Amino acid sequence: MIEKINSLKEEISTLTASTLEEVEALRIKYLSKKGEVSLLFNDFRNVPAEQKKTIGQTLNELKNLATEKINQLRESLECADTTEADIDLTRTPAIMPLGSRHPLSIVRNDIISIFSRLGFTVAEGPEIEDDWHVFSSLNFAADHPARDMQDTFFIQRNPDVLLRTHTSSVQSRVMEHTQPPIRIICPGRVYRNEAISARAHCFFHQVEALYVDENVSFADLKQTLLYFAQEMFGPETKIRLRPSYFPFTEPSAEMDISCNLCGGKGCSFCKHTGWVEILGCGMVDPNVLDACGIDSKKYSGYALGMGVERITNLKYQVKDLRMFSENDRRFLEEFQSAR
Ligand code: DAH
Repeated sequence: MIEKINSLKEEISTLTASTLEEVEALRIKYLSKKGEVSLLFNDFRNVPAEQKKTIGQTLNELKNLATEKINQLRESLECADTTEADIDLTRTPAIMPLGSRHPLSIVRNDIISIFSRLGFTVAEGPEIEDDWHVFSSLNFAADHPARDMQDTFFIQRNPDVLLRTHTSSVQSRVMEHTQPPIRIICPGRVYRNEAISARAHCFFHQVEALYVDENVSFADLKQTLLYFAQEMFGPETKIRLRPSYFPFTEPSAEMDISCNLCGGKGCSFCKHTGWVEILGCGMVDPNVLDACGIDSKKYSGYALGMGVERITNLKYQVKDLRMFSENDRRFLEEFQSAR
């Protein structure tokens, strides 16, 4: 039996094959249930006990050799298969899928770029804030409803640790350590305790702008607003200001732009008024300047704040606010060419 094993070893180590079918035939010939190697294992039962150890060892060596040899032949043919025949080195490579910018980032960057052309620089502040920066320093009365649990997310029920409800908090953060002239723009995420629907979300994005210097007037604000509206929505855009109220500005206004879908003629988007609201603004209330350590007798300023989702909706007609945070690639890919 040992001779038979050795001669098979020799035979197997010199095997060659030129196709995968031939390799398979060799596997069947030697290693299948009725293959030569397997038959030897059957005979092994009849080997006298004192020879079992040596013969068992050589038999195992034979089996390993055969398995290895056949795998080797198969692998080298499989590799050869692709390198020689199938690889076309002149073919253009597969296109790598490129991501696209999120629509809110596109619009935020547009807003920043428009204001930076007017000399504004970006300022940032924390999303987890305290009452002073979000409310008190901005002239909110102690019982103002915005402080209520209904609107504001408090952290661990501590009334002094909360998620900012607007980016106006960055105004007071900057003013308390900078003297005018101040010309900043503050983009960021804000949070409000709202039920999530197509028209409301518990987080969204705002951009705040603040300009404080000597002799800043409402005319300066209006000119800035007109420049912004026309840069953002096109040179034909008109603006109008409606009186409004915010605790931190006096006087306060809300700005409408002529509806950019119908050009002001009236359509379902602007509810047939020809105008759509886009931001809040006003002259910084002297109380706010004083609270932040800026002399309100010497300096004046204007501030404005807008929702990035709102502007994005106007530019791209996104009907449902939830689309912005669901990461649906079909939606995101629509902005591939936007920038
Ligand atoms: N903070 C206001 C809000 O969240 C927006 C705003 C209105 C900001 C008027 C301003 C402003 O700076 O002057 O609704």
